[in-house]
Amino acid sequence: MILLNNTEPKESLVENQSWPWWPLLPLYPYGRKRTTFKEIVPGQVWSFEQLQGLYYVAVPVRLTVLKVSGGLILVNPLPPTYELKSALIDLEKLYGPILSIVLPTASGLEHKIFMPALARAFPNAELWVCPGQWSFPIPLPLSWLGFPASRTKTLGIDGLPHEDSCEWIPLGPIDIGLGRFQEFSCFHKKTGSLLVTDALVGIESDPPALFDLDPTPLLFHARENGSEPLDDSPELRKKGWARLVLFASFLRPAELSIPSLKEVFKNAFKPGLRNPRAHFGIYPFAWQKGWDKSARELIGNKRPLVQIAPVLERLVFPRAKSSLIVWLEKLIAIRGIRRLISAHFTAPISFSSDDLRRLKRNIDRREWAPVEGNWKFLGFLDTSLLKGGVVPKDPLKEFKD
Ligand SMILES: [Fe+2]
Repeated sequence: MILLNNTEPKESLVENQSWPWWPLLPLYPYGRKRTTFKEIVPGQVWSFEQLQGLYYVAVPVRLTVLKVSGGLILVNPLPPTYELKSALIDLEKLYGPILSIVLPTASGLEHKIFMPALARAFPNAELWVCPGQWSFPIPLPLSWLGFPASRTKTLGIDGLPHEDSCEWIPLGPIDIGLGRFQEFSCFHKKTGSLLVTDALVGIESDPPALFDLDPTPLLFHARENGSEPLDDSPELRKKGWARLVLFASFLRPAELSIPSLKEVFKNAFKPGLRNPRAHFGIYPFAWQKGWDKSARELIGNKRPLVQIAPVLERLVFPRAKSSLIVWLEKLIAIRGIRRLISAHFTAPISFSSDDLRRLKRNIDRREWAPVEGNWKFLGFLDTSLLKGGVVPKDPLKEFKD
């Protein structure tokens, strides 16, 4: 039986979901990490999700558990709250020990920061990390960052884990100035599940189930100004979700303006909103006409829309489209892909090599890494980093033979 019991008494539930190390990466929801659990393929694939975000712009982050010969592996760490750890131990009782914990990305801080704690929670597991791990502002060795050297191995350098059950497909490396972008996708052969970290996401119009536990971020962003109460309805949740998608995709979408401080404070501190949950009525955003049309371009109607996240296209791949194409070609060559499980947004998504071919065709034909409309702010960031010499002109040069 999987222990994720949200009907527990409130005090013990809060305790079981508490994460005292949250100041290491101070993201919403800070010290309380609620976890949802999903059995994706009975006896084979499971996922755990938590929310992470800034200023109520929160999206799901996912740890996936795979059945392999002799036990289980964990892909993409999450903070092991008591609730999460107990559920993983329940899976171990049924399906065998956690043999490996895999951090398949070099750059995603939201995944790597939790690896040492998860490693401590399962001291017998082998740890596998993507090559090129980096820290900022000071480059530190992995052991200083809490990765136990004696059981840490590097993907592709020290071999690859559980190759009888999984195929590992690298994307990158790409030089992004401060460090490198690279990730290893994992194809779980028995179930046809393709696990990716940040490279692909699938977005749908319904907010993720995680928000059922606390819809505050959706309701906060569904408003037009800080004087409005945090009303709740299915429509308002969808509206808030569409705006979170725009924020997460473009950082500063075109139809978002920042009102003057005078305007923000005029609407703040209204009765009923003078509390931390409502940020005391401080809402420094104003959405302009047309925002919903922009959101619809990112969100699938009947099924999740699978895409390269705009923030990645514009900040990681603007001059490295060829790496993405090489990776897609490798994935297309794999037989038997049936579902996509990304580390963010919707999962699982029914998915095949035809979908991969369509994605590749689309990337080949359309304008790549645009600079207009919703892409303007990301384009501005990239151009500034390029001009300042922070990111290289040729992000693949360092890795050429
Ligand atoms: Fe990520």
